[in-house]
Amino acid sequence: MNKNNIVLVGFMGTGKSTVGKALAERLNWTFVDVDREIEAVEGKSIPVLFREKGEEYFRQSEQEQIARVMQGSRQIVSMGGGAVLREANRRAMAASGLVVALTASASTILERVKNDPDRPLLAGNPEQKIAQLLKERKNAYQFADIHINTDELQVTEVVEAILSFPSG
Ligand code: S3P
Repeated sequence: MNKNNIVLVGFMGTGKSTVGKALAERLNWTFVDVDREIEAVEGKSIPVLFREKGEEYFRQSEQEQIARVMQGSRQIVSMGGGAVLREANRRAMAASGLVVALTASASTILERVKNDPDRPLLAGNPEQKIAQLLKERKNAYQFADIHINTDELQVTEVVEAILSFPSG
């Protein structure tokens, strides 16, 4: 491994947190979930933060946490789905991490997130919101070093796929 960190990016419901925890255990590295870091510094859950302060405030806080977290090393960092939207974030990730994009089809994503109330951007009509955001973010994950489709994979298979990457 010639990078200090492994960074997991991908749409909501692609398995970033689950895979990240398993990978951290396997490598004996620290697992960091950026959403949890934001909640800790803001003292609020993500849905409450969106409701009370709005998305722009959340994105600013997210950028600050990414800049801080990416200073560390030997970490598996799970990013929120929208973290890739800002160029500063993409640069910070690429500078000190092997960036792994997890992907999944819209139907897999819907299946994985439909009973989870904690995603404010999908509130109302998750199916339609997923389709719309997938379209808007179609190119946002292209900067990643590796892309892994998780539709048919178990968590351990995704972990092995990441570890088998040549510089992984
Ligand atoms: C978001 C994804 C969420 C969280 C916030 C916004 C997004 O993270 O950061 O609700 O813009 O896609 P997960 O991808 O971990 O659900």
